[in-house]
Amino acid sequence: MLSWIISSVHLLTLGLGLGSAVARGRALSKVKEVGDLSSVFLADNLYGGAAFLWISTGVWRAFGGLEKGTDYYLGSNLFWIKMMLFGTIFLLEMYPMITLMKWRKKLKKGDEINLKSCKELSNLTYAQVALISVIVFIATAMARNLYY
Ligand code: HEM
Repeated sequence: MLSWIISSVHLLTLGLGLGSAVARGRALSKVKEVGDLSSVFLADNLYGGAAFLWISTGVWRAFGGLEKGTDYYLGSNLFWIKMMLFGTIFLLEMYPMITLMKWRKKLKKGDEINLKSCKELSNLTYAQVALISVIVFIATAMARNLYY
């Protein structure tokens, strides 16, 4: 029962994560003035929530005995490829995450925000969208014991 619920949440997180990442990339590419940042921050909050859900449900599934067991995943090449891709997404996310946190603080203080990096942040977000899509193929192969 628990395995069914957690795997459903893990799968639903894909919709939330991929959707909010695409929305953030799009919102960033359309920013003309500071007022346009509200849709960026909304998508960013949802994307942050998805990251939390992916990690918590993923770790629970891999190491909490809900699926094939810890030894299976630690010995699975696909699992490590998935973790490497997830780590790469995390690294690509460092600059956008820190920049948007700084912009929220500046907005609160009424300080000026230099929006010239919006295009770069949008490109970094779309690169993450591509990697999330690759992870889906790796994850479904792993779930079916392909290429252990
Ligand atoms: C971008 C992040 C992630 C995406 C898009 C993703 C996607 C998926 C998908 C689509 C499945 C279902 C595969 C299927 O049943 O056909 C799955 C299963 C799974 N995921 Fe993730 N996942 C992500 C992150 C993680 C993380 C961080 C972990 C662990 C630390 C993890 C561990 C697992 C496990 C253990 C399964 C079950 C595989 C099985 O049935 O044996 N996932 N993932």
